[in-house]
Order: sequence, then C-alpha cells, then structure tokens
Amino acid sequence: MSDNNFYITTPIYYPSGKPHMGHAYSSIIADVFARFKKLEEFEVMFLTGTDEHGLKIQREAEKNSKNPKEFCDEISVKFKNLTKTLNLSNNDFIRTTEKRHYKAVNDIWERLIKSNDIYLSKYTGWYSVSDEAYYDDDEIETINNIKCAKSSGSKVEWVEEESFFFKLSSWQKKLLNFYNENPKFILPNSRRNEVIEFVKRGLKDLSVSRTSFTWGIPVPKNSKHVIYVWLDALTNYLSALNFPDVKDNKYTKFWPASLHVIGKDILRFHAIYWPAFLMAANIPCPKRVYGHGWILSDEKKMSKSRGNILDPIEIINKYGVDQLRYYLIKEVSLGNDGNVSLDSLKNCINNDLANNFGNLCQRVFSFVSKNCNSEIPPCNKFYKEDELILNNLIKKIPYLQNSMNNQDINIYIKEVINFSFDGNKYFNDLQPWALKKNNLERMNSVIYTILNQIRSISILLSPIIPQSSNKILNILNINDKDRTIKKILDIKFLKSGSKIKKTDILFKKVEDDN
Ligand code: ME8
Ligand code: MG
Repeated sequence: MSDNNFYITTPIYYPSGKPHMGHAYSSIIADVFARFKKLEEFEVMFLTGTDEHGLKIQREAEKNSKNPKEFCDEISVKFKNLTKTLNLSNNDFIRTTEKRHYKAVNDIWERLIKSNDIYLSKYTGWYSVSDEAYYDDDEIETINNIKCAKSSGSKVEWVEEESFFFKLSSWQKKLLNFYNENPKFILPNSRRNEVIEFVKRGLKDLSVSRTSFTWGIPVPKNSKHVIYVWLDALTNYLSALNFPDVKDNKYTKFWPASLHVIGKDILRFHAIYWPAFLMAANIPCPKRVYGHGWILSDEKKMSKSRGNILDPIEIINKYGVDQLRYYLIKEVSLGNDGNVSLDSLKNCINNDLANNFGNLCQRVFSFVSKNCNSEIPPCNKFYKEDELILNNLIKKIPYLQNSMNNQDINIYIKEVINFSFDGNKYFNDLQPWALKKNNLERMNSVIYTILNQIRSISILLSPIIPQSSNKILNILNINDKDRTIKKILDIKFLKSGSKIKKTDILFKKVEDDN
C-alpha cells in the first residue's frame, strides 16, 4: 500500500433490527477519519455494510415469518439508507450475502485448510446467539437462573456438535509478537492492554463451523457445515477489495487496511481472531483496530434488547445531521463510554454551533455584505493582532494532524472550536464597525483576517460537520480541490474582490420547549 492510500471500515452491522444510535456513532466516527484523510489529500476507501448470516439472523427471520434472505433485504436497506441520512462518504456498502463475498470467504477457508490450520472435531460448550460468540465456563455467570456471558450479559446456550476448529492456540506467541512489534495496532492503549492480558492467559482452538442450522456460507466440500459467522463477517474487509484477486487494483492499493473502527464489544474478534486468521492465510494484517466505547442512555448501553434507544433518524429530522454528528464527536470521549441525552445535545448545539461558530460566521458575513459591498476586501498587510490569530492557528496544524491520525478526536475538536472563540474575541476587540469611520485600511485587514479564520475553521470542521462547512465554504467561493490542510497554510489564499454569497441561518438555536 502506498503512502497516499487510506482504507477505513466500520463494523458490518447485523440487520436483525433497525439501526440505532450506537450504529450511527461508529459510522460517524469512521466518516470523520475518512473525510479528514481527504483533507490530507489521501485517496480514501471507506467501507460499511451488513453482516447477514448466522443463527441470530436466522432466528430473527423465523420470528418474523420471513426467509432469512428476504428478511435481510428489508433491513439491510435501512442501514444503507442511514449512510445517506448520516451523510457518510463511504464508497461501498457490502452485504455478506453477495457473490463477491462468498468468493472471498471460500478462498480464505481453502487457505486455512492448505496451511493446516483447520481440523474436524466436536464443540461442547457455551454459545451466545446474540453475540454470535463461544464462551468458556469462567466467562459465564448465572443471573436469575439464566446463564449469561459476563462481558455482554447476553444469554448463552449449551452446544454439542461436530465442528471444524481453527488452531488458534498455535498463534498465541505470534500474536503477542505482532502486538509487540505494532504498538499501535490496538488503540486506545487500555484496550490493547486488555487484549494482551487475554492472549497471555492462553488461547483455545476456535470452533469455525456449525452443523445445527443452515443460514450461512457452506464449508467447501462439506456442506453439512456452515462457516462460523465471524470468520465469514471479518472477511468482508477483503471481499470489498475484490480479494481473492490479489492483483486487483483495489486490493493492491488498499490492503492492508489502515483502520478498522469498531465498538469495544467486538474487540476480541478484530484484535485476536482476525490477525490470527490472516497470518494463517498468509495475508498481511491491518494496521490498526480502534475500539471505541459505548453510547449509553440513562447510564446503560443502548441496545435493542434494553429498549432504551435514541433514534438517530428522529434526532436528525428534528435537529439536523451536522448537529448530531458534532454532538456525538464532541461530547463523547472516544474510547470511553458516554452518556447521551437530549438536554446535552441541545446545550451542545447552542453553545458551540449556534452561539460560537455560527455566530462568528453570521456576524462577519453580514458585516461584509453591509460594509464591504459583499466583497472580500483588499489586504495590503497584516497587523500584529492579525498575525497573532493567524499564526496561532497555523502553528497548531501539525498537532491537529497528529491528533487525528492517532484518533485523538476530542483534542482536535476542542482546539478547532477554540479557534472560533479566538475569532469572536478578535472581532470584538478589533471592532471593525468603529474602524469603518476612520481607518478603512485597518478595517479591511481585520475583515480579511477573520474571513480567513472562518475558512480555516470550516475546512478543519468539514470532516465533522460536512454539510454546514460546505455551505460556508461555498459562501466564500472555495473550490472543492482547495479544501485541504495544505491550503489552510496559505493565509493569503482568499481572493480580494471576490463576491461572497448570501447566507441563510447556519445553525438554528434550539429553544427549551423543542
Ligand atoms: O457486532 N454504543 O454487529 P452489531 C456504541 N455484525 N456503539 C455501538 C452500540 C452502542 N450502544 N451498539 C452498537 C456486530 N454499536 C457484527 C460486527 S464486523 C466484521 C461484524 C456499534 O450490529 C459498535 O461499533 O451488533 C459495535 O461494535 C457494533 O455497533 C456492533 O454492531
Ligand atoms: Mg451486537
């Protein structure tokens, strides 16, 4: 993979019920990183999709008296529609029921057979259908006479059946070496430590096929078995690059993946099973897995089974897509669990977007249209105060890039919103409306400077609030190709004399009764 390509993925979601805020959260995070890499002029491949096989889906379809494929067709489209509603920049949407995916999974299976990493035996133990995961005795607890997985709280059932196994135990040392040699493979660090501790305790071979149901990809040459849904699902990241055609342009450009964004609930699959499968299949491992925390509502994980779901679509219809995106990114500390509520959403919209950044844009644009003939004014020189605010932003750019590239998204957004505070303060302090009376030249440099500040902030915020940033950058006549980090460094980029377009309200204030 050359340096200028970036491949980022979300988990592929189970189409077992309609999408909720947790799914929206993962997708928005991935979209922010995808869009940021475009600002750095990377070629970006951003993949999301749905994970459609396994007992969980089969049972859900039965409950709804549908055949599984028909059931998946109906719900998968809701996830696909959500990508539009969230304004995601994904360039593909994969479904594991597609032909291209079967081809990839078959190839992986054959590779694992050839490398002698798979053998036939019998599985006896616990299984959670809700998590599609096997659990050991010490990972189980009994609550109200029901056996549950400690980690997820979901019900487990006893399974005894013929099964193919993957020799996971033989990959323990190689995995530990891999983590060691790639200290940023698992982020954040707390997650990395958890995984390393788990692997150090020893790994058991993993059951990778089932015989007691049929909704899955048949094991090649033994169709009594279907392939374990996680081996099936993880392979999606390769299927979308036209694997097994390893000469394909997409594969050569984008594999190994740069970043798998996932929730911490599926860390084990991505940080242990996935690299082990890949090493066994002689395929390079992804560069990074980032396990974010959970979105909580009333301090509990939001989930279908708990029924405490905030519907992202309802919120977007009421408050706007950028508003939701901004809120989730700003108020939830990435990597940790975060409680969300309508009250804090409204506060965040009002404080940061309406009163801070929105206000800055509105007052400056309206000043320009009233006092500068709607034109970007000339600027012969920058004065001390101008240089101060401009340089303060420029000198932080490498730090901001570094933060984003380490998924320190909260640092990034805090710094960027500070640039907007600075902008409002600068505008108040310099009082261009007073300069208008006696020092037009100074007024012009102030307006030029503050317009440039708005341009920079809009570019920097565009990964998070793409729709609003787009509006503002259009007002300033900034072409798509000029919306880059590099162009921020050019503080004389704005063309004096060019007309700024008319504005409507950018961020509406939310009233209490809303
Ligand atoms: O696990 N808070 O699919 P899934 C934050 N198909 N994120 C949440 C969340 C919450 N409350 N609830 C869900 C699967 N998520 C598998 C993945 S990948 C090869 C296969 C997000 O529908 C989070 O990213 O259960 C979590 O990992 C993912 O949705 C699980 O979605
Ligand atoms: Mg789940």
